[in-house]
Amino acid sequence: LNYLTPKSRQEVLDLLVTGLKRLEYRGYDSTGVAIDSPDNKSIVMVKRTGKVKVLEDAIQEHFSGGDYSEPVLTHIGIAHTRWATHGVPCERNSHPHRSDEENGFVVVHNGIITNYNDVKTFLAKRGYEFESDTDTEVFAKLVHHLWKTHPTYSFRELVEQAILQVEGAFAIAVKSKHFPGECVASRRSSPLLVGIKTKTRLATDHIPILYGKDDKKQSSDKVLPRSESTSEFMPLEEKEVEYFFASDASAVIEHTNRVIYLEDDDVAAVRNGTLSIHRLKKSLDDPHAREITTLKMEIQQIMKGNYDYFMQKEIFEQPDSVVNTMRGRVRFDENSIVLGGIKDYIPEIKRCRRLMLIGCGTSYHSAVATRQLLEELTELPVIVELASDFLDRNTPIFRDDVCFFISQSGETADTLMALRYCKQRGALIMGITNTVGSSICRESHCGVHINAGPEIGVASTKAYTSQFISLVMFALVMSEDRLSLQQRRLEILQALSTLADQIRAVLKLDSKVQELAKDLYQHKSLLIMGRGYNFATCLEGALKVKELTYMHSEGIMAGELKHGPLALVDDSMPVLMIVLRDPVYVKCMNALQQVTSRKGCPIIICEEGDEETKAFSSRHLEIPRTVDCLQGILTVIPMQLLSYHIAVLRGCDVDCPRNLAKSVTVE
Ligand code: G6P
Repeated sequence: LNYLTPKSRQEVLDLLVTGLKRLEYRGYDSTGVAIDSPDNKSIVMVKRTGKVKVLEDAIQEHFSGGDYSEPVLTHIGIAHTRWATHGVPCERNSHPHRSDEENGFVVVHNGIITNYNDVKTFLAKRGYEFESDTDTEVFAKLVHHLWKTHPTYSFRELVEQAILQVEGAFAIAVKSKHFPGECVASRRSSPLLVGIKTKTRLATDHIPILYGKDDKKQSSDKVLPRSESTSEFMPLEEKEVEYFFASDASAVIEHTNRVIYLEDDDVAAVRNGTLSIHRLKKSLDDPHAREITTLKMEIQQIMKGNYDYFMQKEIFEQPDSVVNTMRGRVRFDENSIVLGGIKDYIPEIKRCRRLMLIGCGTSYHSAVATRQLLEELTELPVIVELASDFLDRNTPIFRDDVCFFISQSGETADTLMALRYCKQRGALIMGITNTVGSSICRESHCGVHINAGPEIGVASTKAYTSQFISLVMFALVMSEDRLSLQQRRLEILQALSTLADQIRAVLKLDSKVQELAKDLYQHKSLLIMGRGYNFATCLEGALKVKELTYMHSEGIMAGELKHGPLALVDDSMPVLMIVLRDPVYVKCMNALQQVTSRKGCPIIICEEGDEETKAFSSRHLEIPRTVDCLQGILTVIPMQLLSYHIAVLRGCDVDCPRNLAKSVTVE
């Protein structure tokens, strides 16, 4: 930071801690921070196991008053909140990691360095001793080794050389006591952006990328050979400016809405208030500059407001978020739909061999939920895949496949890897994401932003319903000129126009759902059954229950009940069944009777006023009637509410379920 106004170290710490709180949904096993000591001669670190609040308290103890309140004009601080991949969550494994006892170089890292064992062996032979079980520590020590062996290198060159030696995924930020007032950051596969805060409007919308060689320094190191380096700084020279490196925009939005999304292998350096972006090699399709994007996100969107939890807020936002997904796209008066991000590709998509829908977790469920409608309205084979399994199988992909990558964050590593796999094989790549500027957005040929607004609760809710609607809109676009499907399209469009009000009606069930939760929260297990358009709700409902309450839960295809799951049913096993008046109603009733005749007493989700179905259970939730293919939106909301209330009753951390993170940027 080169401050707009002088700041004390305490203010720097506050700023870092607030940033970490905003990023906490990405991981919350342990946290840490590094700033300069008051005499600027060393780096002070504080690390803690657990959530950011624990770090905040520790910081107050360590740094209150005295020298830490002296204002300074330039200061670099780094901080991190962790989702453990290598090494248990503990202080020793928390970031920042250091190069040596003197904290010469300190590093924060998101991702996995896959060749860390090789680098570790190399460094151990040169006398480095490791104090953590993490992959990250090798990076700090590698930079230190390069600094010792190449004393003429700039800080940025040292980091450039280090990233050439590491494999895997990373977003890193490095600070050094040997290069005070400087910070170097880089990314490969994990997201990283630079926020720029200035007093006056920036004169430019782009930062040039610097390439080049520096032949004068040759490496003497055979194991870590020297490669090309870049030339001089040339860059954004602002006198009063604050720079922020962060994994996503929520950490910086309260300071600035001007950001640059870095690309893989970009190295961004801040030195003397100057930001420069470098690349080691120039490739043909690389633009010469990185664009400064103005974010539309508002700070209120990432605050809880009057709600107890982000998840609760996001559930209740759904009447608005579904409208935002349709806004400017669905013209109810003309019965038409325009998806600007794909319209030029529609002729190509219509000629394709098959549609592949790929995602993880909740995003995968949105594909399951809409598959049947896509098959009906496109008359194409529709294949639904979990990204990780898809990659494991080396699935055949053809040039005339259209592949959809569905991801709230746009950063999920499994989904991103699957995208790259399909792109390499010549398929058309379509991104369905909630995060403008995310890796999946940028690497797709075309796509749909679901526009649900930032989702902070780790368990996805409003993103699911907006993904669902985005895919429904796509199906409607694909069937625009099919005469035989016009009646069906009109029925769906009509249902979309009343959906927000129907969601509002479902949300009114909240207190009834809370009562149900009181009956269920002490049980060990919950079975959720349905079929047809509601099978996805069973999978998604069970995922919500598992994620949030740590209870066992299974989404069961009702048709499969008699092939195994029925053995689980007795008078004490909680069962929830979705039975709506759609084409599979009779079959669902069969399943319902199979359960009741084994003394099961299921909770039923049925249509308003369906007395006949209700009679099979004393506990039921009635939802408004809509067209069959949109029912899944109305049936999933009681499941979201139920898992939320069970989690609260069980004393679970609703927004930060144990062991999970919202954006999983490692494979
Ligand atoms: C993580 C989250 C899930 C989410 C999944 C896919 O596992 O905990 O809630 O559904 O990632 O995330 P994406 O951002 O790709 O939709």
